[in-house]
Amino acid sequence: MGKDVIIAADFKDKKETINFLNLFNEEKLFIKIGMELFYSEGPDIVREIKKRGHKVFLDLKLHDIPNTVEKAMASLSRLDVDMCNVHAAGTIEMMKAAIKGLTKEDGTRPILIAVTQLTSTSEERMQKELLIEKTIDEVVKKYALNAKEAGLDGVVCSPLEAGKVKEICGKEFLTVTPGIRFATDDVGDQVRVTTPAKAKELGSDYIVVGRPITKSENPVEAYRKCVKEFCD
Ligand code: C5P
Repeated sequence: MGKDVIIAADFKDKKETINFLNLFNEEKLFIKIGMELFYSEGPDIVREIKKRGHKVFLDLKLHDIPNTVEKAMASLSRLDVDMCNVHAAGTIEMMKAAIKGLTKEDGTRPILIAVTQLTSTSEERMQKELLIEKTIDEVVKKYALNAKEAGLDGVVCSPLEAGKVKEICGKEFLTVTPGIRFATDDVGDQVRVTTPAKAKELGSDYIVVGRPITKSENPVEAYRKCVKEFCD
């Protein structure tokens, strides 16, 4: 699986999304659709993007009982998404059920990755509210190993953690990494950020880039700059 730039299409509706996609005439993109867009537009937004020849990472972070996740994943698989995800906190059994649901009759399936701990969860809250007494670092490592044991393809993590994840889960285990900014960018609400070139150096397989492309004055140029820095 090659390196790729995934654009976080954090738009509020189909119109904004299509206006954005219309800027690109040459490239076939990899588009991340999150809950906001999917819940407002439904599965049609995936079909629309796929129809244009782009790939889709459907970022819905499933977390439910194994049977429900299996059935939900079967629906996403029929939608022909290219990548989707679950919370590793749902347990190995749930992640195995997700793979079962995703796998098509011919044995193929979308890439499945796990969220370990959300970056919005601080160690303090995790310990005090969730009663998980380990360090965040230990939890992330254990959840990544659980995802690997369940047969998942990788995890979402910071580029700064990519090396560590690969060290414990093997270099084939994918790291999909948000928190990307160009050296000249405003950091916004992201705290630990990395440039596309640095993410490449750190071993990320996919970078997830939102505002540095979508809010750029020239999104096509910004996308191409990401690809050049990360993939070439
Ligand atoms: O605009 P920006 O480049 O910050 O967007 C990053 C995308 O990656 C957003 O869709 C955000 O929700 C997602 N993400 C993240 N950090 C995580 C997991 C997902 O920024 N740990």
